Amino acid sequence: MTRRTWISKGSLTVYVSTMLFILVTSVFLVAFAVSSRSTDEKVQAVSRAAYATEVAAALVGASAIEAEALLLEHNCNVCHVLGDGRVAPLFAGIAERAAARRPHLSAQQYLYESIVFPGAYLVDGYANAMPGNFAERLSSAEIGHIIAYLLTRTDQAQS
Ligand code: HEC
Repeated sequence: MTRRTWISKGSLTVYVSTMLFILVTSVFLVAFAVSSRSTDEKVQAVSRAAYATEVAAALVGASAIEAEALLLEHNCNVCHVLGDGRVAPLFAGIAERAAARRPHLSAQQYLYESIVFPGAYLVDGYANAMPGNFAERLSSAEIGHIIAYLLTRTDQAQS
């Protein structure tokens, strides 16, 4: 009869690998948190000066109707319209809120920033959970259409 020790060689290996995995993951997460914070600061500094011209260019020929397909295609509605507002702020009434969010930005500039640099300003109570690559996925004209659409989402608008 063989006696079974409480910790076999196999489970010791699993234990050590798990510990190593947790250690490496934590180091990685800390490094990531530090690097993403400094990127956000850089993005904010660069973008402030650039917003005025970029936003004006994006809004030339902007059409709220053109935005509807884009909002579906890029799943904006999944987080911002279909939910109960816990995952992301609802678009209803955003036209008024956008004008008040950032004193140094117009409503259009704030909406542009929210789409292109979602981490630059976080709405109170929400995580930095919005995809960060819309600047690559949307053309300037498409961003313009979306801004035009969001400006129609006033407190009075039917949802
Ligand atoms: C995975 C969920 C998710 C998707 C998809 C998403 N967002 Fe967001 N969005 C968020 C969250 C969470 C916030 C709040 C945190 C912040 O301010 O970045 C936010 C914030 C915003 C804001 C600022 C809202 C306010 O009340 O000030 C705008 C505008 C916005 N998103 C537009 C969009 C558009 C346009 C798209 C599609 C092109 C989109 N979002 C896709 C999660 C999402």
